[in-house]
Amino acid sequence: MKKIGVGLLGCGVVGEAVYRRLTEGAAVISAKCGAVIKVEKIAVRNPAKSRGKIPSRLFTRKWRDVVAAPEVDVVVELIGGEDEAYAAVTESIRQKKHVITANKLLLAKKGEEIFRQARKAGVNVGFEASVAGAVPVIRTIREAVASGTIKSVFGIINGTSNYILTDMMENGASFRDALSEAQRLGYAEADPTFDVAGIDAAHKLAILANLAFGTPVKLRDIYVEGIAMLSPDDFLFARQFGRVIKLLAVARNDGGKLDVRVHPAMVAANRQIARVDGVTNAVELEVSDAGRFMLIGPGAGGDATASAVIADIVDTARDIVRGSVGRMTPTGFLPDSRKPMPLKPMDSIKSGYYLRFTVDDKPGVLAKMAGVLGAKGISIDSVIQKGRSGGPVPLVILTHEATEKNVRAAIKSIDRLPSTRAKTMLIRLEDGR
Ligand code: NDP
Ligand code: HSE
Repeated sequence: MKKIGVGLLGCGVVGEAVYRRLTEGAAVISAKCGAVIKVEKIAVRNPAKSRGKIPSRLFTRKWRDVVAAPEVDVVVELIGGEDEAYAAVTESIRQKKHVITANKLLLAKKGEEIFRQARKAGVNVGFEASVAGAVPVIRTIREAVASGTIKSVFGIINGTSNYILTDMMENGASFRDALSEAQRLGYAEADPTFDVAGIDAAHKLAILANLAFGTPVKLRDIYVEGIAMLSPDDFLFARQFGRVIKLLAVARNDGGKLDVRVHPAMVAANRQIARVDGVTNAVELEVSDAGRFMLIGPGAGGDATASAVIADIVDTARDIVRGSVGRMTPTGFLPDSRKPMPLKPMDSIKSGYYLRFTVDDKPGVLAKMAGVLGAKGISIDSVIQKGRSGGPVPLVILTHEATEKNVRAAIKSIDRLPSTRAKTMLIRLEDGR
């Protein structure tokens, strides 16, 4: 049987799980790809650190030694970050090594360049692990959807923030405690701001939108809000309205314009997406000739991510064994068949809104605010005002569908009223699905 050498760059949460699963699952893996896959070398920052059953002779501090090793055919980049990872990936491609990576930041920023170099060098680039952990969403978009066009990609693609939101909503946990637990479980990025500020979800959405719509999507094209501004009050009000709060990633073809955004949304509690809890990710695709379907599964953590990395290793091993390397382009489209799509400006999107005002508890305040909303053509669906406390009180309004631009303008005016005591909180309602 053919022998295929793997070089691991990184042996942290994901790298360790990849090594373990390649070793423990060796027989099944060989039965699937017709090759013996062996980890030949591993680069880490600290080679002196003891790493359980992994033989210490495999470790080096220098990723260049791994990439250059003649016995390494496939380089698996799991160090994370941008510059060093880009250098390692492009050097691997230059040396005609196949590359597999879980690095969504790298792909969101430099994916097009990496794909171009790989195509030129005639090597494979696998990145199933970069989005939604074990859930095969890249393969589904790229390979399973062939005749139809994708109308929308919608879902939960950051496990850490979903873990935090679930813990806050269901157990009343504090943001800080829920984040610490997600970090302890190996879900969070090296800089967890990426998770809670919606940046990691934006990286992943850039990758998915690129594959789904055949158009390169830049990070700056994506409207992004995170979950750090949410207060315990928002969770209580969501419950009163029969809703839950989720960090949603949305990419839609809206009349030929691409609507791409990541933000918290209030979702009716009886919808399927509302019941996707903890580290679980879910991606719903709407396809012209197939309708809607949803993929759900573990979205972060060593084992979940390693499962996707190994699927890519097996795919490349099959290509090596069969002589079909390059059969699949990284995006699924031939490079010159892709057309850039214009963006839909965020100001022009339509949604229902949850608006939490902080106002003086005095007669006439609600009437004045309703007047501002009415003047902007925003119709009120329901109102909740908390009882008298002597000080400013939260006053919550749910609106019917309105235009973002008008809602923003109304909030600006209301925030300037003398009766308004703090910046208004806005959360979009996700209803129509
Ligand atoms: P970790 O921080 O746990 O591991 C990083 C590994 O890379 C460590 O072994 C570290 O060495 C090594 N490393 C860092 N810099 C260098 C360098 N310059 N040269 C050699 N080795 C280096 O990260 P994760 O395993 O969690 O994540 C890895 C990648 O996978 C990231 O891109 C992340 O975004 C992505 N990812 C992570 C998921 C998760 O759930 N954790 C899920 C999906 C994707 P040392 O051990 O000595 O410090
Ligand atoms: N930090 C990421 C998350 C890891 O929580 O979803 C998986 O990509």
